[in-house]
Amino acid sequence: MKYLIANWKAHKTLDDVKDWIKIFKENLSSEFDQTTIILAASTPHLSFLKNEIEGLSNVYCSAQSVSDVYDGSYTGEVTAKALEGIASYCIVGHSERRTKGETQEQIDAQISNLKASKITPILCIRTVDDFPTGYSGIVAYEHPEAIGTGNNTDVNVVMEVFKNLNLSEDSTFLYGASVDENNCKEYLEHPEIKGFIVGTASLNPKQFIKIAEKI
Ligand code: PGA
Repeated sequence: MKYLIANWKAHKTLDDVKDWIKIFKENLSSEFDQTTIILAASTPHLSFLKNEIEGLSNVYCSAQSVSDVYDGSYTGEVTAKALEGIASYCIVGHSERRTKGETQEQIDAQISNLKASKITPILCIRTVDDFPTGYSGIVAYEHPEAIGTGNNTDVNVVMEVFKNLNLSEDSTFLYGASVDENNCKEYLEHPEIKGFIVGTASLNPKQFIKIAEKI
């Protein structure tokens, strides 16, 4: 099974999401049955998206972040508990959040909250140093200098990171940062790389579908 994750970040309004999902569904093909497609939307759009993907096989919703508190009097926090039944996955540790001050301690708490709520974390790491000892599950390597720049990371560097991580057998290694329909092929030649997190090239549903076709 391969993975293809759309990370829309903070780019879309609800109307944009409506337009995106309409075109996506029109172009969805049974050829993608071997690919888990995950759509990471802004939290307010998740419920709508969840209804829209109802009945589609291998298509899931993801949150883009979650609180490090599990429940209680924390105004404005979006907890893993609140995401139950809405998001099947949640991105944690994205470089853009670490840059804003998110600590490893908070990321560890987010992962354990998600696990308690049976939501699968998609852990993003900028380097091997970001990888928490003992973690198993989905991990995506995304170097900040390659994110959103068009300068995707050389596949040999990605494979070096994969080797240094020494992941457990039940883990899934993904690559992200400037992936598009033209450069994805070189990564797919390495079976250790199980798929992608796609930011910029996921904003247009037709371009995103082209990557699914390559997979
Ligand atoms: P990008 O974003 O594809 O625009 O580089 C990827 C990400 O940040 O997840």
